[in-house]
Amino acid sequence: MTADWTPGSWATKPIKQEVVYDDAKGFQAALAKLQKLPPLVTTQEISNLKENLKNVALGKAFVLQGGDCAELFDYCDQDMIEAKIKLLLQMSLILIWGANRPVVRIARIAGQFAKPRSSPMEVINGVEMPSFRGDNINGFTADPETRRPDPSRLVSAYFHSAATLNYMRASLSSGLADLHSPLDWNLGHIITPSIKEKYEQIVTRVKDALRFMHTVGIDIDRGAETVDIYTSHEGLLLEYEQSLTRLLKTPAPPHSSRKTTATTIPPHQTHVPPTITSHYATSAHFLWIGDRTRQIDGAHIEFFRGIANPIGIKIGPSMSPDELTRILNVVNPTHEIGKVTLISRYGAAKIAQYLPGHIAAVQASGHIPVWQCDPMHGNTQSTPSGVKTRHFSEILSELRQALEIHRAAGSFLGGMHLELTGEAVTECVGGAAGLTEEGLGERYTTFCDPRLNEKQALELAFLVAGFYREMDEVDGAV
Ligand code: PEP
Ligand code: CO
Repeated sequence: MTADWTPGSWATKPIKQEVVYDDAKGFQAALAKLQKLPPLVTTQEISNLKENLKNVALGKAFVLQGGDCAELFDYCDQDMIEAKIKLLLQMSLILIWGANRPVVRIARIAGQFAKPRSSPMEVINGVEMPSFRGDNINGFTADPETRRPDPSRLVSAYFHSAATLNYMRASLSSGLADLHSPLDWNLGHIITPSIKEKYEQIVTRVKDALRFMHTVGIDIDRGAETVDIYTSHEGLLLEYEQSLTRLLKTPAPPHSSRKTTATTIPPHQTHVPPTITSHYATSAHFLWIGDRTRQIDGAHIEFFRGIANPIGIKIGPSMSPDELTRILNVVNPTHEIGKVTLISRYGAAKIAQYLPGHIAAVQASGHIPVWQCDPMHGNTQSTPSGVKTRHFSEILSELRQALEIHRAAGSFLGGMHLELTGEAVTECVGGAAGLTEEGLGERYTTFCDPRLNEKQALELAFLVAGFYREMDEVDGAV
């Protein structure tokens, strides 16, 4: 067990983005309820994800993480959940082809409610009120009463997460992920003639590969066993995370690692593995620390250093290389490979200035994390009329630069982290469909940051797949 750590030791440290509840009794009752409820995910699932992320860190797999910026309780809806799952599956199939590696899928879903805000208060129509902090904290409606932190929302968050997760598991195990037939590969309507030919080649090759696998009996649609989608959210609200943290038995290592151990044990000895227990955050498989709450001596790093889940840390221009190394040593003192995913988010104009120094520091430290590029959060800007948006070309540019910088440094860019939705929203500009700033008003429905819509997300997956192919071709790998 981690020295001097308990699920509640974070409370002794300075905290950012704190939520203060006036209803102390209601708050304690909500936490007591959460402490009694069963885990939302199992340690076996968490361990499987850890093993998968270890492969990503070692350059043997790719990770795709995506979903809403701010999930609402209202998104717990059959069509919306299906649209998101299908989009992630379609994108991952394109990336399997492009990166020539298995793809680990992690959704920002079933718990991505709490949001860090730049200011705790805001003024709307002349009335000052608390900012919207996410559906698990307060309501969006611009009214001081609705904006008051309401502890009953913590329990509601658990049940909405449970219902979303239940439908994800049920639909994946019932064939929603049949990758052979229901995919709409006909993306002709979204593309320009200049890239149309390239797309068609990719689609044909993906289809051929699927047909081949089916013919030789290796199906990739054998249900939940093989088409896993893991859940994730920002671990911002520590009282919630603490209440769902449990001391649980750590599952036996996967088959391949067991075999290695077995060969070292003489056959006549009965091997009874010791029971190892660890603390698991059971609200999701994967939690990350946001860019605003990753202070080395702060409450969030304290909580995260004690949980056995794989974790993410956002890193931006304000992180110094030295601080990055120190944080890695605190959250992962045993240098477990792939335990930490570094989610870089500098912006297309700044990545070249900061990423090389961060990579060099990590290489010198001996840590082997997963490197993931979040090309969304450093590229947010406002239109002249004040609408928050992101340009497709800048998102793509940050991804391309990330790939090139990692490659030049002898490091592996293991994945991307996107804000996206299966809905036909108009929140990010650009892409082959040519969404302009004037068109943003049509379906701008996000409650926080602008997301890629389905067409933009698929187009991005195709283009990134193309980058990986190009690089492999340069290396002579294909
Ligand atoms: C987010 O991922 O929605 C977010 C708030 O990101 P960051 O912490 O990188 O700003
Ligand atoms: Co966001």
